[in-house]
Amino acid sequence: MWGPFDLDGHAAVVTGAARGIGFATAKRLAEAGSHVLLVDRDGALVAQRASEIVASGVRGSAVGHAADLADIDAARGTIEACVAAFGRCTLLVNNAGIFPAASSLSMTPEFFDRVLTLNLRGAVFAAQAAAARMVAAGDRGSIVNIASVDALRPAMVGLAAYDASKAGMVAVTKSMALELAPHGIRVNAIAPGGVDTEGARAFQSELAAAPPSAPAPAATGAAAASPIPMGRMAEPDEIALAVVYLASSAASYVTGATLVVDGGMLLT
Ligand SMILES: NC(=O)c1ccc[n+]([C@@H]2O[C@H](COP(=O)([O-])OP(=O)(O)OC[C@H]3O[C@@H](n4cnc5c(N)ncnc54)[C@H](O)[C@@H]3O)[C@@H](O)[C@H]2O)c1
Repeated sequence: MWGPFDLDGHAAVVTGAARGIGFATAKRLAEAGSHVLLVDRDGALVAQRASEIVASGVRGSAVGHAADLADIDAARGTIEACVAAFGRCTLLVNNAGIFPAASSLSMTPEFFDRVLTLNLRGAVFAAQAAAARMVAAGDRGSIVNIASVDALRPAMVGLAAYDASKAGMVAVTKSMALELAPHGIRVNAIAPGGVDTEGARAFQSELAAAPPSAPAPAATGAAAASPIPMGRMAEPDEIALAVVYLASSAASYVTGATLVVDGGMLLT
């Protein structure tokens, strides 16, 4: 049924998988045949979500794993946990991320570091551990980094730290793709526009309560769906299916790419 998108035999780590884009991605990967380690700092919820995926009758399998990806040792440990659970690790989806707002005039070094530590540093060293494992095992796997359209153009004010983290992720995607291509390992990014998730809704509520400076022309959030040419935000599953594509043999010649999935937002 999944044809060139089939992921039978893969073993994947998906970070930030207890909800939103990460959960939708873990579910689709398991449906496509992959074994999936769902990683999240919310250990109870991620275990429950993994059980839900198994109970839905997927071809692959799902296991929950508690870890804080801002901690490099924990990030590296997720790859070891995947190998312990499934015998290998052939796919990493770096999805865990935070998107707090603060204007560039008022943000503190601590705020900047908090965003970069999870969104970029944690992702980079998880990718390093995954790639090292793939090289050692001779696996021709892949890494998919969930960036953002903000890596390419700010969607609103107040996201300088976030935008830096996601632009860095796109840059690292290209660098690692270049270095890992001789090993047959592909590294790609996805740049979603607005996606209707719990995190995005909480973000909208925070912005409404305390705008970072001038009223934000938010390009995410239900109230701001009109600037999106397709007239709506994405469902998490629409990002998940893009991950399946990049992880699968359908994308066997795609590396170093950033796939924009934004309903046309960047065209405006
Ligand atoms: N929702 C959007 O509009 C949108 C748009 C572009 C990019 N993105 C990116 O997609 C990714 C997922 O976004 P989402 O909207 O699904 O988020 P979300 O807030 O709904 O879910 C994020 C998940 O990550 C987990 N998490 C957060 N910090 C963690 C940590 N330190 N260690 C482990 N797990 C952690 C949370 O517990 C949660 O389960 C993020 O990287 C985000 O920047 C989202």
